Order: sequence, then structure tokens, then C-alpha cells
Amino acid sequence: MKSNNRKSSKRILITGPTGFIGKRLLYRLDEQGYQIRCLVRCLVRPPESLDLKVPLTHEPEIFYGDLLDPGSLSAALEGMDAAYYLVHSMGGRSIRETLAFEEKDRKAAENFLQAADSAGLSRIIYLGGLGDISDNLSHHLASRQEVGRILQSGNVQTTILRAAVIIGAGGAAFEIVRYLVERLPVLTWPKWVYTKSQPIAIDNVLAYLTGCLETPETTDKSLDIGGPQILSYADLMRMYARVRGLKRLIIGVPMVPFKLSAYWVNLITPVPAGVVLPLAEGLRNEAICRENHIRDMIPVNLLSMEQAICNALAEESEGPGKLLSQQACFLPEDLK
Ligand SMILES: NC(=O)c1ccc[n+]([C@@H]2O[C@H](COP(=O)([O-])OP(=O)(O)OC[C@H]3O[C@@H](n4cnc5c(N)ncnc54)[C@H](OP(=O)(O)O)[C@@H]3O)[C@@H](O)[C@H]2O)c1
Repeated sequence: MKSNNRKSSKRILITGPTGFIGKRLLYRLDEQGYQIRCLVRCLVRPPESLDLKVPLTHEPEIFYGDLLDPGSLSAALEGMDAAYYLVHSMGGRSIRETLAFEEKDRKAAENFLQAADSAGLSRIIYLGGLGDISDNLSHHLASRQEVGRILQSGNVQTTILRAAVIIGAGGAAFEIVRYLVERLPVLTWPKWVYTKSQPIAIDNVLAYLTGCLETPETTDKSLDIGGPQILSYADLMRMYARVRGLKRLIIGVPMVPFKLSAYWVNLITPVPAGVVLPLAEGLRNEAICRENHIRDMIPVNLLSMEQAICNALAEESEGPGKLLSQQACFLPEDLK
């Protein structure tokens, strides 16, 4: 612990602090001087540490709990001013392991809301997914919407930020793009690589997440967040190749079953099939902002996707996997 001088007396709970978003948010809120408590599952790592490679200014409080175990949540929520909800249940090396994710995510959100209501929490900030409910959403995207509806149904004022792919090292979707383009000179891809999406840089997501805490207008709202460009996944792969100076050919092929694609992507990338499948199914849905109200509420300098990719690669030069979520990727030991 380097100093006791805090800029804010707000007490903030982070759920999912070991994840791609949660771990970065932990550093950001620490820099900004908030008092942080982390809800950590102790299933997959020794309970002593959050596995932080770079020290924080202030040691966060660690509470062990699981959103699927309602009894483990009340202590973690006691005395908090706001909580970030940065959790999903996709994962597992096999598709079978991820099949129950919607049910788990529903239960987790209900448990969390009940504990938050009982603790008298005043704010939840949830990062979910873009997508229009009338658009025959994939299981994953529909589940992200459902979690938002559950969190907004209680007494706690809930802000929902809805994002498409987030570009940053260790993000499951970004790692899929990165590994495919790095490893395959010719990419044969079903037609859904041409679906439009509005990716956003991780830096911008963190600015919006932290900005919400000090921007009362964001309270109890659902706000779309997106970068400055609307791109297809094929565009994103071409852009990645351009930024890296790689020559890549992308060839569209007729429809390939999502399951088959998931297993194939799992062979080429470290992202487990149990994460790839729900993400791949979501590629059929456009993920574009319906509105941009947040740009007036929290002005941030939106990074181009070229810049976001460069930033992710720069972070990687310090060692890929530095901030990876265990749930999102299974990297070989020598890449960690
Ligand atoms: N990554 C993207 O491109 C992207 C895009 C749009 C929206 N989002 C949203 O951002 C949020 C965070 O995603 P992410 O990419 O950071 O995911 P992630 O890296 O896979 O992290 C998920 C986190 O959830 C925790 N978790 C899972 N089940 C839990 C449970 N039952 N109890 C307690 N904690 C549990 C995991 O803990 P363990 O470490 O113990 O597994 C991990 O910390 C999600 O709501 C996601 O929908 C992400």
C-alpha cells in the first residue's frame, strides 16, 4: 500500500474483478482514489490473491463469494455505495460446460439484486451487450438483456451500459480476431463475418464505467456505448492485419454450423469452445448503438479501432495474458 490519501470516500464493490473488464476497472478506480471491495470466487485460484501483477495504490478489500450462492453475498454488499456488475457465466473448455449459462446468469443476477436490495445499495452499474430484442437475438445477447432487466427490476438504481466487441488484450472476442488473423494466411469464413457492429476501445469503456459514478444523469438509464466506426467483423480482421502488416485473404463460404465454427476457432485460438459458441452465435445480430446520449453525459475522446488495436498490441508487448481472465482464455503456460 503506497498512500492513505484518497480522493473519494465512495465505497465501490466490483464483481468480476478477475475478468478482462473487472481487473482493468479495479486499477482505474484505484487511481481515482475510490475505496474498493472485490467479490472474488475462490473456485479457480487460491483465495490468497487477486493475482495482480502490478501493485495498486490502495489494497482493495477482498470478499469471497459466488453469485450462485446467495448466502455469500450480503457481507460483500454491506456498507457499499455502488456496485459494478461485470460477470457472465459462459466458459468451460467444452460446449457442454457452457450450455447452462443463461440459467446461471439469470440466477446470479436475481441473487445479486436480492442481496443488493436487502443491503440498501443505491447504485448498480452493469456492462451488458448491444442488440435489439426484436432481432431474434442469440442466446448470449438475449441473456445479457435479461440480466439488465433483472437488475433494473429492484429498488436499486441501475445503469446499464450496452457494448459490442471491446478491443483490448485479453478480451475473448478480440483474442479470437487476433489469433485467427495472426495464425491463418487465408481466412475462410461464413457470411456472418459481414454483420455490422460498433466495437469500442477498452480505454473508452473504462472511461464510461468510471464516469457513470460521478454523473448522476446516468442513474437508472440504459445507455449504448460504441466507438466511432461501424465495421463488419471482416473489416475488423482486415484492419487488424493492416495494423500488423500482415497480408490476409478473407473468403466468404456458405453457412457453417455455429458448433463446428466454435470447435474450429477453439483449435486455432486459446479461447475455449464454451465461450466461442455463444459469441459466434451472436455474430448474426447487428450490434450498433441505437442512441449516443452518453456522449453528451460523459464526453470522452473516442479512439479509432486502429488505435485500439495498437494499444492492445502495445499492452501485449509486456506479455500476453498479463491481464487475461482465466474464464475467457486458456493460454498455454509459455504465453502467460
Ligand atoms: N469482453 C467483451 O468484449 C465484452 C463486450 C461487451 C460486454 N461485455 C460485458 O462485460 C462484462 C464482463 O465481461 P468480461 O469480458 O470481463 O468477462 P470475463 O473476462 O470472462 O470475466 C468474467 C468475470 O465474472 C466472474 N464470474 C463468473 N461467474 C461468477 C459467479 N458465479 N460469481 C462471481 N463471479 C463470477 C469471473 O470470475 P472467475 O475469474 O472466478 O471465473 C470473472 O471475474 C460482462 O457483463 C460482459 O457481458 C464484455
